[in-house]
Amino acid sequence: MKKAGVAILGLGVVGGGTYQILTEKREYFKKTQGVDLTVENVLEKNVDRAFSLGIDRSVIASSIEEVCSNPNVDIVVEVIGGIEPAKTFVTKALKSGKTVVTSNKELFAKHWTELEAEAKKMHAGLFFEASCVGGVPIIRALQEGMQANKILSIKGIINGTTNYILTKMAYEGSSYEEALKEAQRLGYAEFNPTADVEGFDATYKLSILSSLAFNKKICIENVYREGITGIDKEDIAYGKEMGYTLKLLGIGKDTENGVEVRVHPTFIKNSDPLASVNDSFNAVHLVGDAVGEIMLYGRGAGALPTGSAIVSDVIFAAKHDRYFYANFENNKKGNKETKFVSDFTSKYYIRLSVADKAGVLAKISGVFAKSGLSINEVRQVAGFEGEAQIIIVTHLCGEGQVKKTLEKLKALPEVFAIKGTIRMED
Ligand code: HSE
Repeated sequence: MKKAGVAILGLGVVGGGTYQILTEKREYFKKTQGVDLTVENVLEKNVDRAFSLGIDRSVIASSIEEVCSNPNVDIVVEVIGGIEPAKTFVTKALKSGKTVVTSNKELFAKHWTELEAEAKKMHAGLFFEASCVGGVPIIRALQEGMQANKILSIKGIINGTTNYILTKMAYEGSSYEEALKEAQRLGYAEFNPTADVEGFDATYKLSILSSLAFNKKICIENVYREGITGIDKEDIAYGKEMGYTLKLLGIGKDTENGVEVRVHPTFIKNSDPLASVNDSFNAVHLVGDAVGEIMLYGRGAGALPTGSAIVSDVIFAAKHDRYFYANFENNKKGNKETKFVSDFTSKYYIRLSVADKAGVLAKISGVFAKSGLSINEVRQVAGFEGEAQIIIVTHLCGEGQVKKTLEKLKALPEVFAIKGTIRMED
């Protein structure tokens, strides 16, 4: 039977879940996978945390050097998160020939190139299933299940915190601030929620996933990013009345015009399968040229779901003697020949606060007409004395075209404010 010794760097929520799965299921893995996995080291500053998990003192390492020089450690699991000290630790582990399994999306999205180069030098494995969409086996699906396809698009709810917030705003009418507070109380959102609510976390994941999907390096700088902090609950409610659900989507498309990668709040039709992905759940919808549509759904975070992804990498690493690296040129700044779509097209939901008097609608639609921007739907939704609120839904149009039109609208004395502009995706 194959044997592998594992070291876990960091015993937070995910490290604890990983330890639990590895220890409680040791016999099960021997029987079902033919591998005997033992935890040989943990590296954690808070030793009480290690003791609370039932870890023996002899297993607790005092430094990364101790882990790297332990001949019984074959696989190092990094679940510290962030850039440092994770980067230094992972680099040291790879340099000493250990295979690395990481859940660290920020580290991976920013330093995949250098880490892979180190792994290659030592013929070590570098696995990152848990870095994207937690327990959902999306990386393995892309690397080992969909190779027969050219992947045309990837569209997903890849951040659980923002999905929880948007669900709460949609179903309970909470404001953004109220929903964020509740997400923090439940432990979904961090005390500093910026990485999630401003879309950075989703950007890291989309850069990794679209690189694998489209077989070309997509750097985070290539991903357009917009978070959910400016979302008004009114727009979620109006969208709902019109048959749309608001989600923070990561969207990647490989088109004839180039690659399009973006993270932003998006209205999707209520009938879209992603619309029923609620609370902190994640889901990814893929289109392959042979298989057609595929959707993967599950928990994107948490001790056991993320631990499940990590242990699946550990088992894979323990069972294979040769490792595989990116199929594309893994350059730090991407490849010059990859073309990106800068002015992507989308449908738009635009809510305006305007003067409630004769001729205003005609003036506004005149601006749209002059800009060559085609309107699909107009409705008046609310207002107070002398003010009306108008929602305009456009047909497909270019981003640049929309920005110019909004500037022209702002310049009209009859337009008091542009209350909301949200992209729509069919
Ligand atoms: N903070 C992430 C989320 C979890 O809310 O989805 C791990 O990436």
